Parts: sequence; structure tokens; C-alpha cells
Amino acid sequence: MESSDKTLRVKFLILLLPVLIFITFISMKAPSVINGFTTISHKAVATCQATVSEESITPLKNTKHFLVSAYVDQRKTGHDIRIIGIFRRDSIQALHCLFCCGSHLSTTTAATTLQHSDNFGFAFVTTDVKCQIPSGCSATLVTLVTQPDGHLSPNLTFIPLKNRKTGEDRGPKFNFTVCISNLFGDYNNVLQFAQTLEMYRLLGVNRVVIYKTSCSPDLDHLLQVYSQDGFVEIVPWPIDKHLNPSRGWQFSQHGGDIHYFGQLTTLNECIYRSMERSHYVLLNDIDEIIMPYQHNTLMSLMSFLQPQHPDTGVFLIENHIFPKKHFEPSGRFHLPQWNEVPGVNILEHIYREEPSRKIYHPYKMLLQPKFIEQTSVHELLINDGPRYKVPPEVCRIIHVRVALQGSLKLEELHVDKRLWDFQEKLIPNVDRMLRRAGLLSSET
Ligand SMILES: *[C@@H]1O[C@H](CO)[C@@H](O)[C@H](O)[C@H]1NC(C)=O
Ligand SMILES: *[C@@H]1O[C@H](CO)[C@@H](O)[C@H](O)[C@H]1NC(C)=O
Repeated sequence: MESSDKTLRVKFLILLLPVLIFITFISMKAPSVINGFTTISHKAVATCQATVSEESITPLKNTKHFLVSAYVDQRKTGHDIRIIGIFRRDSIQALHCLFCCGSHLSTTTAATTLQHSDNFGFAFVTTDVKCQIPSGCSATLVTLVTQPDGHLSPNLTFIPLKNRKTGEDRGPKFNFTVCISNLFGDYNNVLQFAQTLEMYRLLGVNRVVIYKTSCSPDLDHLLQVYSQDGFVEIVPWPIDKHLNPSRGWQFSQHGGDIHYFGQLTTLNECIYRSMERSHYVLLNDIDEIIMPYQHNTLMSLMSFLQPQHPDTGVFLIENHIFPKKHFEPSGRFHLPQWNEVPGVNILEHIYREEPSRKIYHPYKMLLQPKFIEQTSVHELLINDGPRYKVPPEVCRIIHVRVALQGSLKLEELHVDKRLWDFQEKLIPNVDRMLRRAGLLSSET
């Protein structure tokens, strides 16, 4: 037993030897290829042997930064493209854009780096990088390098250049896109999630983009069903693999590397993602519904508002809180089939706080992406044209959550049954999706 074991081991070593020699040879040769900068001859530069990242967060070689996405943006003169990134503020250096033009590599062009102003004290901030495309280059991929031409690192990672003009543009195919930033933790509010998505659908929303770091298994099933239909577009957002994301909005209070799981980056990313394909974009949270009160769809609302404000691309919608601790007394929408579904039933909450207009009161935004360069959560950082505060009797946000003004008594709240106007279609639609996701027992 023991001796045959030994012969086996010897045979194995003999077999292994050439492999070991080969590995030693490679690892001795490797440093000169992989590390440092190699001056590439003009001939080598001509071909584009790119590693293309399919990730939504790509570490940028030789820097402490991350690339998120790149978009053609020729609305202003002086630049052709905009790269959205997450940059470390204390390590920002001069950068150059490098393109793949089909199969050949471009010369580098100067990059303008623009940190967003709202960093809230965090080390990392959403950053735009703007560049021109060299003439004669039909650019398909782009990356940033720290050295100009002649000093290119051999193994660069490129990201796709999106919103390229294809010649067959027929204008936006969506009327409304909702951008939901950042699902994270074990988010499990399944019923409110399904009700809200179905409410969007009834209001005429065509696409909901959701940036997902993590969520509960039940919610994940529901998301899969919605994304099969193409109504929801899930963008993986593994920010926690790269950084220590903050659960709060301010570094001094909450710590971490970046504001609120990178929410500001995802909102900006979503605006550019929607730029060519959606007339309007709504930036609201998943527990918020931008609800017209005098129209039955968002399109009829905008057909009313837009002609009155033809140059306006930014419509501010007031947030109204419906505390989830107060229930509508008849219980008519306390439906048995939803008993086992986790989460809030928004139809049961009809009492609305009057916003205190003496203190800062947040709005959410309904935008025309064409007008927008940079956004924050409740306001824009850079945009064209005026903004318009939509009167709450025309449109407001229904936001079912914990009370904001918790001391208000029931008599001090307004009864608001606007959601009930949609119940006839809303309830069966919610049931159908919950059933498809396996979250509703089929006999109900
Ligand atoms: C180039 O980079 C990619 C991705 O980082 C890696 O998988 C690959 O092994 C690298 N190739 C070389 C020759 O270094
Ligand atoms: C956009 O709105 C118009 C006008 O209401 C409607 O005719 C069209 O079907 C809508 N498009 C989509 C994709 O929903």
C-alpha cells in the first residue's frame, strides 16, 4: 500500500515538473509585461486588444477611482462624451481619454474632470469626465489613462460608449422612466413594492430602472418576474464589493466611503441611460408615487403642464407623507390574499400629513433628461432652463412610511383616498404579479 503510494507520488512529480518550470519562466517574465508602463510602438498602438468590462462598477487601472459608464453627450460644444465615475477626492490626477475606434486604438485626448459639488464630506464623490473623440475615430469603447500617448499600460480595461448615434434613431421609445436608486440590505417590503410598480404602470410609466445591491429573496423573485417582462430593468450595483458604502447621507454622522450606497451616482447614471430613450424621467424612491390629482395618467398631466411651461425641463413635486401607523377604519382593502405577503398595503393608509412649509420641505423631480447635466436627489446641480414647482392640488407624491410629524393627531391629518380611484385595476394586477412570483397561494 505504502510503496505503491510512493511510486504514484514520484510519477506525479515527474508529470508536474515541466508545468513548474513553465510557471517559473512565466512569473519571471511577467513583471516586465504587467507592471509599470511600457512604451508601445506605433504599430502596436494601432490595434485595440481591449478587455471590455461588463460590470457597472469598474476599477480604473493605476488610480483609486472607478468608472461607471460612458455616454456620448454632444449637447454643449467642447466635448463629445461624458464618463460617469466615482472618484477618490484626495487622489485626483490629470487624465486622458483613450478610445477603441472599431478595431484600432485612438490617440489620447485631454480629459476635463468635474467633481460633483455634493460630496457630503465623503472621500469618494460622483465625478464626470468629459472628452473629445479624435477626428476619424468611430468610437465604441473608452477608458481613462494617467499618461498620454506613447506611455500606455499594456492591459487596459475599457467600458462601452453608450448612446452612440446609429442613424436609425426614431426618437424616444418611452414616455416615462422611473429611476429607483439603490436597493440594499435585506429590503423586504414586497407588497408596497408590487403595488407601487403597478401604480406606475397604470399611470403610464414604461420602464423602471432599479439599481440593486441586495434585497430579500422574496423581493428578488418579484424583481425577476418584472424584469422578464421588460418593465423593470435591474442594474447590478455591487458598490459594497469595492467600497464601504454609507447607510446615511453625511460623513460626519454616518461614516463610510460614499454617500448612501452611491445614490447620487446611480441617479445621474439613470438620467444619461434615459437621455435618448425616454421623454421624461422621474427620480423618486420605491415607496413614493408621483400622483396626478386632476389627470388619470402622467401623460395627460404633462400634456397640461408642458405647454404652459414650454422651456421647463424640471418639474418639482411636493412630498406628502401618509403615516403607516394610521389605518383606514373599514378595512375594505385589508385583503385576505395579501395576509402572507410581507410589507405595507398602501391602500390601507389614507391619512396625509400637511407638509410643514416653515421648514425645508423636500421635493422630488420629474425631468426632461435633455435639460439635465448633473443632478442631486432633491434638486439639480447643473441644468438648462427654469424649474417649476407643481401645485400640490395638481400633482403630489404619495409617500406611505413612518410619520414625519409623529405628534400630529388623526384629526390633524387630511383624508386622501386618491389611490382608491385605481383599485379596480390595481388589485388584480398586483395579484397577478405576486402569483407569478410565487408569493400568493394560487387558490386565492
Ligand atoms: C488583463 O486584465 C484582465 C482583467 O483584469 C485579466 O483577466 C488578464 O489576466 C490580464 N492579462 C494580462 C496579460 O495581464
Ligand atoms: C406615449 O404617450 C402617447 C400619448 O398618450 C401614447 O399614444 C403612446 O402610446 C405612449 N407610448 C408608450 C410607449 O407608452
